[in-house]
Amino acid sequence: MDLDPAALVADAARAVAESESADELSAAANRFLGKKGSLADAKKGLGAMEPDQRKAAGQAINAVKAEVEALVDARRAELHALARAEQLEAERLDLTEVHTELRRGHLHLVTQARYRLEDVFCGMGYKVAEGPEVETAWYNFEALNIPEWHPARGSFDTIFVNMGEPESVMLRSHTSPVQIRTMEQQKPPIYIIAPGRTFRTDTADATHLPAFNQIEGLVVDRGITMGDLAGTIDEFVKAFFGHEVETRLRPSYFPFTEPSAEFDISRDDGSWLELGGCGMVHPEVLRNCGIDPDEFSGFAFGFGIDRLAVMRYQLDDIRELVNNDVRFLRQF
Ligand code: FA5
Repeated sequence: MDLDPAALVADAARAVAESESADELSAAANRFLGKKGSLADAKKGLGAMEPDQRKAAGQAINAVKAEVEALVDARRAELHALARAEQLEAERLDLTEVHTELRRGHLHLVTQARYRLEDVFCGMGYKVAEGPEVETAWYNFEALNIPEWHPARGSFDTIFVNMGEPESVMLRSHTSPVQIRTMEQQKPPIYIIAPGRTFRTDTADATHLPAFNQIEGLVVDRGITMGDLAGTIDEFVKAFFGHEVETRLRPSYFPFTEPSAEFDISRDDGSWLELGGCGMVHPEVLRNCGIDPDEFSGFAFGFGIDRLAVMRYQLDDIRELVNNDVRFLRQF
């Protein structure tokens, strides 16, 4: 026999390592371990040997066989693992999703002003009340002590809705109807604010919009005085604009308050700016809602939220608020 165990193992190791597939590996294994393989050849030579030589050669052949089998087994496991990894890679599902980043917007500055006002008044113990934008003459005028013949009716530049009797249904021209709706449903003590949209036939200009926002305030309780009204307005203005801002009341006229006033706030240059109207709730209005004016008294105020935003953000023109120019709105 012509067996060089070390050379044979080295050959087998090379052939096994070079096998790139199960088939190639089987062919390589066959060449060494198969019926017609190198080890089978070597075994054939054993018969011709002397018994003591045969034993040593037989052991050498078995050792080589075991080594080659181990090499084949190891490579088979390796190829199997590679094939599995390839299969997994081929079947892999890519579950990742790429989002283009969404641009986050923000609340319109009138909404910001409204929420800020709600915060300030809720902090003072007020509740937020609401009413419809389409009103009847009773709520928008009559219950507020503005009968049909009253000249003040004209000053509200009302937009009427074509429903029922002429001029009986309208887009509310102020938030004061919410005073009536609240007092009808709720007995004193009442501490509410009512922000919302209001409408007038006003032509849009630098200080007017035909659809704008007001906020109404109403307090009805025992022993409420004009001093409470002045203090409340001062408190809210300082919370909203800052402590350096002063307030003052100026005599005025509204049919639903008596006495009535306009309230102004101080500007940096020392001048005064009108913010809205206010006054003590007229006894007739309390009576219209079933509240005894001898037992209860109250104050009310109403002002424009859009004008407030114009002041707070120092805008030149109130129409900027409704032009919907994103380049402008983005700044606030
Ligand atoms: C009223 O509407 C009264 N209801 C206010 C009131 C309530 C008085 C409670 C007493 C008691 P006046 O018509 O003045 O009042 O309007 C109040 C505010 O609304 C104005 O000061 C202004 O800030 C705002 N306003 C009025 N018209 C417009 C308009 N066309 N565009 C923007 N803001 C307006």
